[in-house]
Amino acid sequence: MRISQLLIGLFAGVLSLAAYAEEPIVIKFSHVVAIDTPKGKAAEMFAKKAAELTKGRVRVEVYANSTLYKDKEEMEALQLGAVQMLAPSLAKFGPLGVKEFEVFDLPFIFSNYDDLHKVTTGPVGKQLLTKLESKGIRGLAFWDNGFKSFSLNTPIKVPADLKGKKMRIQSSKVLEEQMRAVGSLPQVMAFSEVYQALQTGVVDGTENPISNLYTQKMYEVQKHLTVTDHGYLGYAVIVNKKFWDGLPADIRKQLDEAMEQATRYANQIAKVENDESLEKVKKSGKTAVYVPTKEERLAFKKAMVPVHKKMEGRIGKEVIESVYKDIGFKPDAL
Ligand code: LMR
Repeated sequence: MRISQLLIGLFAGVLSLAAYAEEPIVIKFSHVVAIDTPKGKAAEMFAKKAAELTKGRVRVEVYANSTLYKDKEEMEALQLGAVQMLAPSLAKFGPLGVKEFEVFDLPFIFSNYDDLHKVTTGPVGKQLLTKLESKGIRGLAFWDNGFKSFSLNTPIKVPADLKGKKMRIQSSKVLEEQMRAVGSLPQVMAFSEVYQALQTGVVDGTENPISNLYTQKMYEVQKHLTVTDHGYLGYAVIVNKKFWDGLPADIRKQLDEAMEQATRYANQIAKVENDESLEKVKKSGKTAVYVPTKEERLAFKKAMVPVHKKMEGRIGKEVIESVYKDIGFKPDAL
């Protein structure tokens, strides 16, 4: 009797141990944009590939649209290990103390995605990700979104049209200077609060890639959008370093592969998603879309490029010059 009880107990113990051993490793991946955006779709793709390649040993739970954390809280949550993975916009690393990342916020520094990729896939991109290690963060990849445009309730054709307007920006000293360069009043605000702030007139306008403007329905509360493409907004995919380093080596390798595939996908769809969003905004009939002439865009560039010099002390002259060199930056050309 006693032996059989012991055997039953032992059997139950083995069973529960086996169940425990099969529990998947959970990666919480938090972000602030809609699922139907370049970042949202790439995050879902990573989750799918991670499950496939690890044969279910890893489960990636994606929390979109600020459902878990808002902008600022995200980074703290990652450092504390409350979430394991994020893809914050590159502007979010300046406030973290890695100011070199703000080079990506400089207005008109990149003319197109090719320029940008020269930097993100080259030595500067690699070096920037390495700088995150001292913050307890491992940088895995850069994911594209796109080029930002200005929106307001009044037409925007010349830089002076932004004068005196309260413009929502991400928390970035470079973006603050960019807005001041055209006489507008920068207002730092979490992404999840922008729609309401535009609706209630707390701010007059904003800047964002069109995929964000469309999926957050900002076009419903902005009468004018001018396709200025005046600055870049993209992401770094990051993980809690301690968590990542503690993963079994084979799993980490499979996740690296999943990330590579998700990154390829993200960077393939970003431009298409933004182009399609622009068409949808036009079709909505709620926002008048204006494409500036070359001369008009050049006027915005001339007004904003002095920000590069002004921010040199903060971002670092060396980083800015390395980027200029990589892309052959010309302050007077479009
Ligand atoms: C913003 O706050 O405007 C962006 O960082 C949102 C995003 O992640 O694309």
